[in-house]
Amino acid sequence: MFRLVQLSDCHLSRDSAATYRGEDADGWLARVVEVCRGLEPDGVILSGDVAEDGSVEAYQRVVEKLDGLAERMAWLPGNHDERSVMSEVFEPAGYQAGPVLDWGGWQIVLLDSAWPGRPEGHLDDERLKPLDALDDRQPALIFVHHQPLPVGAAWIDKLALMNSERLWTALKDSSARAVAFGHVHQVFEAEHDGIACLSAPSTVANSVAGTKKFQLRDDLPRARWFELSDNGRWDSGLVNVD
Ligand SMILES: [Fe+2]
Ligand SMILES: [Fe+2]
Repeated sequence: MFRLVQLSDCHLSRDSAATYRGEDADGWLARVVEVCRGLEPDGVILSGDVAEDGSVEAYQRVVEKLDGLAERMAWLPGNHDERSVMSEVFEPAGYQAGPVLDWGGWQIVLLDSAWPGRPEGHLDDERLKPLDALDDRQPALIFVHHQPLPVGAAWIDKLALMNSERLWTALKDSSARAVAFGHVHQVFEAEHDGIACLSAPSTVANSVAGTKKFQLRDDLPRARWFELSDNGRWDSGLVNVD
């Protein structure tokens, strides 16, 4: 069994004292990581908006905070990230960018939905290419920053993955068991065409689910875990942090 932790929307800034939506981004990430250490994950996925401002300093502090958390680390960018800066910091630290990883007998796919200069998500032929190479005999778990279906919250649904039908077409009859995303800063779980759709809440600031406007909720869940068995069975849940 392979245990994976998804950390999302950490929104760290160049200045470690800067807040995100009034919350201490560095402090919360440290607390979440501390709790996640207790889960002894085999792998960690950072699913975007790792930094608020795409700064080297923010990514460097993420690497420091996550030190020793898992043997395998991987990442994909969100709309607040700078892919080139992330890779400059994460690559030397041994963080992987895929786009397809073989973890625990599963194909872990990391899709880049960030649309330069825009908060919405976008996938084109090039960015969907990793899905062409999927082996149907091996289960797959897809990670992408933007939500591929509405979560029922107007403030963030207007900034969703714009051409999500292309993703669903590409995943039809594939071995994908679930699509995991971030970006929505709330807990969301549903199913589309028999594929589970799961969000990871933000490590720093989450909204009450399904509201028109962002409404800060002092809530426990701040990450998501997955347990992947090599026979294709899997389970997932939330990581609560006091
Ligand atoms: Fe975010
Ligand atoms: Fe985002």
